[in-house]
Parts: sequence; structure tokens; C-alpha cells
Amino acid sequence: MRRVFGPGPRDGNRHDEVGLMPMNQPRDGERRHLQPFTMVIFGASGDLTERKLMPALYHLSALGHLPVDFAVIGVARRDWTDDYLREKMRQAIEQAAGPDGIDEKVWADFARRLYYLRGDATDESTFARLEEAIARISAGFPGEIGKNRLYYLATLPSLYPKLIQGLGRLERARSNKGWGRIIVEKPFGSDLESAIELNRLLARYFDESQVFRIDHYLGKETVQNILVFRFANGIFEPIWNRNYIDNVQITVSETVGVGHRGAYYEEAGALRDMVQNHLLQLLALVAMEPPHSFNADAVRNEKVKVLASIPVPDVTTVAHTTVRGQYTAGVVDGKPVPGYLEEPNVSPDSKTETYVALRLGIDNWRWAGVPFYIQTGKRLASRSSRITIYFKRAPHLLFQPFSVPDLQPNSLILDIQPEQGVTLSIGAKVPGPQVRIRNVDMEFVYERSFTERSPEAYEYLLLEAIAGDTTMFTRDDEIEAAWRLVTAIRRAWDEAGVPLHPYPAGSTGPEAKHALLSEGQAWCGG
Ligand code: BG6
Repeated sequence: MRRVFGPGPRDGNRHDEVGLMPMNQPRDGERRHLQPFTMVIFGASGDLTERKLMPALYHLSALGHLPVDFAVIGVARRDWTDDYLREKMRQAIEQAAGPDGIDEKVWADFARRLYYLRGDATDESTFARLEEAIARISAGFPGEIGKNRLYYLATLPSLYPKLIQGLGRLERARSNKGWGRIIVEKPFGSDLESAIELNRLLARYFDESQVFRIDHYLGKETVQNILVFRFANGIFEPIWNRNYIDNVQITVSETVGVGHRGAYYEEAGALRDMVQNHLLQLLALVAMEPPHSFNADAVRNEKVKVLASIPVPDVTTVAHTTVRGQYTAGVVDGKPVPGYLEEPNVSPDSKTETYVALRLGIDNWRWAGVPFYIQTGKRLASRSSRITIYFKRAPHLLFQPFSVPDLQPNSLILDIQPEQGVTLSIGAKVPGPQVRIRNVDMEFVYERSFTERSPEAYEYLLLEAIAGDTTMFTRDDEIEAAWRLVTAIRRAWDEAGVPLHPYPAGSTGPEAKHALLSEGQAWCGG
């Protein structure tokens, strides 16, 4: 174990502007004091910049969350100009805004902050030109926007090492020192070894408090609510353990296929694409011990402990604790869709998994013996991300068996998307002269309880990075703990020859997933 847990030099983000932690957002009219900054996006001509980053920045700006002085420089290899970038981003923001459209006044103010720099990560002169561009652009703003910098790596991951080196040297050399932070998009490595390598490289140039490894699931409102649900309510924590919980299920099912991302997906597969990051993050939030505070390292220390307590499947256990599958042609949302092997840029004899289900354990006092079932897949019957906690049944049923034929154990469902809410299922008496018992739901639905708009995950996370708060970003040891598990499963699959089960698009996944469960258990939702 490399890390000593508990308070230490890395205990918290002690930047001046981080007065308010994520769970303690400003009240209306009150804003965090954010310093002027320049954001530099590498991969400015890419999909992520258009679909997520620019719409998020535009919204933050429209809502008045950003400081008066800031600029965004997009860097890419294409022969674009400032005006062309502005035009492209306007289209992208309009598309993301849908019927709400764009506010011309907000756009005019936002557009004048957008700049383009043609540059190649593999060419060292790019970084000197970037420094010049920042100085030039900064001179046009009253605040010192060039002093504080947020670098965003949204390129192909193969360019990350060059970018980290180039930016690291630039940060060391510059004299106008404010803060310098680096956001690294997923995939962060492709296995344990490459993730360690990338962490080492980052550590050579940046302090861990400057590094923001992004997992957009941590920016989702409902995912953050897991912590609030557990730690702001006194009634759940006492029963949140092996004495009361039978099993925990985490499902992220998607109806989409791999679309135009075939080439990437062939290398990744569902295990690396979804489990290594999003699903293990959800698991860590559900299973972690209460942190002593909501500071970055206190929260992340607890998450790392959970990930480190999961026994790693090996060649002897992997066949009965994991299932992998691949979609074949089928019907999704009433439309016929091709199988994975027919998708563009996918090898016709590909063995890449588009579905994975795991039975995991957590070897600690709270969870010993409680299975955590996780599953995720593409082209499944419905789009739904949810966490289900199944509680143990009542120890003794005093009712006649005929009165409780359908009684299910109590369950608590945390719906993450598209439904957003919490449902507690309890047994209730069916009205009438006889005692008949049936499960009914107590529901909290976000849109019925709150009128506030839920920010997009990237809006939330960008704002946190600008504020310098790493709580909702993944730390180096945390990402390595997740890769340790995923890399071992991948290798054990090959060694043990674990079969790849076909499943028709539009189904709930391979039938083999049911064999992971113990007697009396069922997958929530099929
Ligand atoms: C991404 C994966 O990280 O998450 C995609 O690369 C996946 O394959 C996506 O579709 C799911 O995100 P969301 O927010 O739509 O659940």
C-alpha cells in the first residue's frame, strides 16, 4: 500500500477560493470567488468540445457562475481561425440548447472570449506559441487572465504524454505564476501498467492537487445525491451494512450501440469503457465509510479503501463471477438495429464485449459476504442507470404463506437516469377483509420535488476545476485501484477462456447473467 490514509499534506484543497465545497453550494445570489483564468482545450475540433465542453461553458457563463475575466483557447491541428471556431461552437451550443435556443447577449459576450490556436501536441513549438497566445489574449482583458490556467486534454489519449510533458515544462518555466491545473479525460490508460505510467508522468510535472481526472458520472446530480442520501440522513446509515443488506445491484444499461466509435470501442470494450470508471465509482460511493468531512482527500481516501477491498477475480473464480456478452442484430425502441459485428470499424470476428456483469465482494467488516452485482451493456432494452439495495427479508413471517405470495424483500432504488429519484419498496396490506400483502413504493421524484434545473455533469465539474476542488475527480491511487481489478479480470478472461455470450439487441443481456446470483435473488428490472 503506497498511501497512508488520513490527514496529511494532501488532506484537502487549500486554495483560497475553495470556501464552498460541492455539498455546500452557494446560496442564491452568492457566488464563489473565482479568479480570472484562461482555459486551454486541446482537441478543440473534437466531439467532446462541441457536445459537452462548450455548451457547459456557455451555460456557466449565462448563469453568471464564471468570473468577469476569462477566455477559452481551443487548440487543434486543423486550419481554423478564431471566427471559424466561434461559428462552429455557436452551432454546437444551439444544438445542445434545443428549443431553448441561444441568448444573443450572452452569446456575444461569450464569443469574444473564444480563440483558436493551430497546434500539434507532438510539435514542441506549439507550447511556446501557446504561451505567446495567452500573453496576447490576456492583454485584451482587464483582469490577469493569463496567470491562472486550466488545461483540458480532450485529444486522442495517445497524445496525453506529449501534452503532459509540454504543459509541465511550460508551467515550470512561466514567471507569471498563478495556478495551473490539468484536466485529463478518460480513458486514463488502458490497463494498470499504462495508468501507473501516466500517473508517474503527471507527478513529474504537477502536484496531485493540480490534476483533475474526470469521470463525468461524478458530475451527475443524482450521483452526488448518493452521498447526501447516505450521510445527511440519520436513518439509513445504521442499516447500511451486512446485517441488513442482502445484495447491492448497480446497472447502467444503454440502448445506443457503438455508433461511429467502433475503432475506439474495439480496443476498450464495456469493461474498460464503463466498469473501470463509472460503475466502480458508483460502487465506491455506495459502499464507502463516512468521510470525516467533504474535503477532497477525506472523500477519496474512503473510496480508495473500498476499491482496494474488492478481491480480484483470478483464473479459477472468473468464470463463475463474471459474464461477458456481445449484441447481435435485434430491435431497439421499435427499430431494427445491426449486431456489433456489423457496426462500422468493427472487425467481423471481434471478441470485444459490449456487455459485462460481475459479482464482486468487498472484504471489510461492513460488507463481508454481501454480493455487489454490477452490469452494463449497449443495445439493451432500456436506457437506465440505477442502484438497487435489496434488504434481508423479515426474520419471521407471521402471516399465512397464501397471504404473501408476491411479497418481495424491501428494496431501495436510487435512480440516476433517465428517471431521477429514490424509491423505497415496502410490503403493505391490500385493502379488504383478508390479510393480503403486496409491495408498494414510496417515491421521491426530482422533478416533482424540485423546480431547480439540474446542471449538466460537465457544467458542475468544470466549475469545480475552475474553483480548484478535486473532490469529485479521481485521485491517482483510486484510478490505479480500479485498473488493478479491471486488468486482472481482462487477463483472467483470456486465460480461463470465459465465453462471450451473444445477446439480441433490445434484450436485457445474456441469460448467463442470472447464474451469477445466489438462490432467491433476482436482477432488478430483468
Ligand atoms: C462514456 C462511454 O464514458 O459514457 C460511453 O465512453 C457511454 O460509451 C457514456 O455511452 C454513457 O454516459 P451517459 O452519461 O450517457 O450515461
